[in-house]
Amino acid sequence: MSVSLCKSVLITGSSRGIGLQLVKELAKSSNRPPTIIATARNPTSSTDLQELSKTYPGVHIVTLDVESQQSISSALEEVQSIVGNNGLNCLINNAAIGFSMDINAITPEAMMKTFQVNSVTPLFVTKAFLPLLQTAAAQSTGMGIHRAAVINISSILGSITCNWGEAANLKSYAYRTSKAALNMVTRCLAADLGSDGILCMSLHPGWVKTDMGGPQAPLTVEESVSGMLSVLSHLTDKDHGGFKDYRGDNLPW
Ligand SMILES: NC(=O)c1ccc[n+]([C@@H]2O[C@H](COP(=O)([O-])OP(=O)(O)OC[C@H]3O[C@@H](n4cnc5c(N)ncnc54)[C@H](OP(=O)(O)O)[C@@H]3O)[C@@H](O)[C@H]2O)c1
Repeated sequence: MSVSLCKSVLITGSSRGIGLQLVKELAKSSNRPPTIIATARNPTSSTDLQELSKTYPGVHIVTLDVESQQSISSALEEVQSIVGNNGLNCLINNAAIGFSMDINAITPEAMMKTFQVNSVTPLFVTKAFLPLLQTAAAQSTGMGIHRAAVINISSILGSITCNWGEAANLKSYAYRTSKAALNMVTRCLAADLGSDGILCMSLHPGWVKTDMGGPQAPLTVEESVSGMLSVLSHLTDKDHGGFKDYRGDNLPW
């Protein structure tokens, strides 16, 4: 896996679920990036994360509540001191919330809260960490995680094309809308950051057994994350501005 070519990765929302598994799989890999920055809004509550950072060298835990601009600024300072002049190669915007709410249950508050966490914060986390991504990008050529990349963890539920027929039976106004908006954030970032050599894409992890995905999901976190890491390690300029799933298949917007 050429994630080894990447010197540093930062993951938001790594206290549990897919984010935690990304940290675990990266830390255990023999070809791992030397610096893995696992962020969480309340890291002391995640004993798994604490354990990983004690077991594996180069796993740094940084407090980051993606909803707080102050927390983003403090995290940026801390990450800057960890990565130094190398900058940051790969930012994975993973933190999100999700509720199933049909037309009877949906409220303006649920719409706004979900939009804030799932669509707005990935943009502002990326904006804050942009100087570090640009520093890394300036030290390499081509496109991919070896240089600099922003990976927005999206969902097929955000695909407008796929929300039709049987696939539209899963009713979630807030979550679906927020991930469709996140996909537009990805495309806007791709249009803006491509000239800096920063690859931007949306990645769907599949339907995964986590607190969000529920026990009926067909995929384990291990299956989803090993697929996603394989996709990440093979990214090139052709994937810039794209929307893929954990198997590397292109998804319709
Ligand atoms: N599971 C699926 O089937 C599935 C399918 C498609 C897409 N996804 C996407 O995959 C990503 C991970 O989902 P998951 O299944 O692992 O969800 P999860 O088990 O519910 O975990 C969500 C993570 O996001 C964090 N988070 C939420 N709000 C935050 C905030 N304000 N600041 C910092 N962290 C925050 C949570 O931290 P706390 O522990 O502090 O709450 C937790 O670490 C999400 O983007 C989700 O939309 C999941």
